[in-house]
Amino acid sequence: MQSSTTSIKSSRFSLDNFAVNLCKILGISGLVLYLAYLLFFSQSSCPSSEFFTLFQHIWPVSPPSQQLNSLTHTNHSCPTNLNHLVFGIVGSVNAWRHRKAYTESWWRPNATRGYLFLDTHPTNDLLPWPPSSHPLHVSNDISKIVEESKHVAPIMVRMVHAILELFREGDKGVRWYVMGDDDSLFFVDNWVDVLEKYDHTKYVHIGGHSEFFMSNIWFSFDQGFGGAGFALSYPLVTAMVKDLEGCLRRYPYLNSADLITQYCVDELGVPLSAERGIHQIDLHSDISGFLSSHPQSPILSLHHFDQIEPIFPTMNRSQSANHLMKKQKPTRSIGRSECCDVVEVGEKNITEIKIRTCRDDEIIA
Ligand SMILES: *[C@@H]1O[C@H](CO)[C@@H](O)[C@H](O)[C@H]1NC(C)=O
Ligand SMILES: *[C@@H]1O[C@H](CO)[C@@H](O)[C@H](O)[C@H]1NC(C)=O
Ligand SMILES: *[C@@H]1O[C@H](CO)[C@@H](O)[C@H](O)[C@H]1NC(C)=O
Ligand SMILES: *[C@@H]1O[C@H](CO)[C@@H](O)[C@H](O)[C@H]1NC(C)=O
Repeated sequence: MQSSTTSIKSSRFSLDNFAVNLCKILGISGLVLYLAYLLFFSQSSCPSSEFFTLFQHIWPVSPPSQQLNSLTHTNHSCPTNLNHLVFGIVGSVNAWRHRKAYTESWWRPNATRGYLFLDTHPTNDLLPWPPSSHPLHVSNDISKIVEESKHVAPIMVRMVHAILELFREGDKGVRWYVMGDDDSLFFVDNWVDVLEKYDHTKYVHIGGHSEFFMSNIWFSFDQGFGGAGFALSYPLVTAMVKDLEGCLRRYPYLNSADLITQYCVDELGVPLSAERGIHQIDLHSDISGFLSSHPQSPILSLHHFDQIEPIFPTMNRSQSANHLMKKQKPTRSIGRSECCDVVEVGEKNITEIKIRTCRDDEIIA
């Protein structure tokens, strides 16, 4: 009896010992692999995210669970920079003549990535296409989808279809696709700062509400107003484009591109993450009061630039756009933020918005 108990004990002991050793071996090899991973990734010094894209093909990005809170910081890769963003701007040849100045004011040749989607080939007076403008892409012919689905708004179909066409351009190392209209100004450095807060490996849709109450009633309180710009994470676009044309056919009665896009995103169960710096500007004439009470949030865009008074009263709209963006371009440092003052200039009651670097003691969100 006694001896048999001992032998059971000793065999249990050696089993325990084996388990401990196995754990140690696994633990040590895990640590070695982890250190090798860290070394490898730090040596790659994040030259671009192409590398990650490659890995994402091998190991598909983490299951895109529905992100109620997508504001989780990702620290497993480089911080988001301008090169991770690809802009898709939708416009028309007719409007381009005067809107060109707006988009060129924020576009940085060889730095910002993206395309302009025009309805038709540009006419001779717009050619040769200048290198200061967005690379040109003429929208695909979507008449088949429109006819077959009896869609009520062909222009809107073209605008949403641009998401698919943008994706098909096949840019490498993309974390975010940012769509917008040709009458919007984009504050690209602020987009980078804001997008950095979100996890680009998940399904994320970032947009803005309209500041005009009635627009939200007419369209939706839960959509990203598209002209002002919205961002879709790379995995979300990858999922959307699998059946974007199907989605366009499913809602032939929708007459707004923003709403169609929202439906297509909703189909994947992704909620809108609203950002207060995205400005639809469904307002008219003088918006200086609106701008001077800007929410404590980085400004991301100003849409409908044609419909508001020039924001610098002594300049016309295109000059205003350039002037505003000139102030944006200088040195960018991490943690930099801009504050603006509304000040009176000249003898009359003219006001001007002056942009400056915030003081250290200023409270900003
Ligand atoms: C993220 O990584 C940076 C450097 O790679 C480090 O300084 C920072 O503390 C990390 N943040 C978190 C929340 O782990
Ligand atoms: C952009 O890059 C091209 C080719 O690398 C070069 O020829 C061109 O001058 C650059 N443009 C600007 C504005 O830097
Ligand atoms: C704005 O003013 C500039 C400089 O005076 C001028 O070249 C440009 O044509 C004007 N733009 C419009 C749209 O009037
Ligand atoms: C401001 O100036 C405009 C035009 O110069 C004038 O019509 C308006 O009454 C002025 N407003 C005030 C509050 O003085």
